[in-house]
Amino acid sequence: MAIRLGDVAPDFTAETTEGTINFHEWLGDSWCVLFSHPADFTPVCTTELGGFAKRKADFDARNTKIIGLSVDDVASHNKWKADIGETQGAELNFPLIGDENHKVADLYDMIHPNASDTLTVRSVFIIGPDKKVKLTLTYPASTGRNIDEVLRVLDSLQLSAGYQVATPVNWTNGGDVIISNAVSDEDATTKFPKGFTKIKPYLRLTPQPNL
Ligand code: BEZ
Repeated sequence: MAIRLGDVAPDFTAETTEGTINFHEWLGDSWCVLFSHPADFTPVCTTELGGFAKRKADFDARNTKIIGLSVDDVASHNKWKADIGETQGAELNFPLIGDENHKVADLYDMIHPNASDTLTVRSVFIIGPDKKVKLTLTYPASTGRNIDEVLRVLDSLQLSAGYQVATPVNWTNGGDVIISNAVSDEDATTKFPKGFTKIKPYLRLTPQPNL
């Protein structure tokens, strides 16, 4: 069954390029981005893994672990790693799950048979420290993901986990945010001391509260 927002992220034990991982134990109290790749030694995936490796410090700064999955075994991943380092200017610096039996791919519904019976789509799951799924994204094999967008959503999720706010269209870190309609104007005055602009009773903007 498809995984929905708010579900507990399914737990699993799997072999990875960094050894055996029990997923929930490995998560600890971190946020996590879990993302799938259709197959090893494929061009778009190679650029994506290099891209995530280059930005790992940005995920670390957000208390977020990153972990990839590809439906080949770890021995194959370890050979592919050399190509990633050689061509992408960054060594693989996070675990890549070996999933030759599709165990994890099936658990997370990463194979969409009408797209391909054997390859995963490009799934992204953001999982919170409570182990619950906060975001899902699905891209076709032909479209590489945008890491700035993954970080942008992570910033929004982490902000709204800490404050009663939502983020507007095209928001990026530092932009004004929307006060939740569950907060009265009176409470907003104390909860958002930088003040707020009331454009409509349901649309109140305030400077980003954690800056
Ligand atoms: C790729 O990563 O380039 C790719 C993988 C599977 C199908 C198409 C493209």
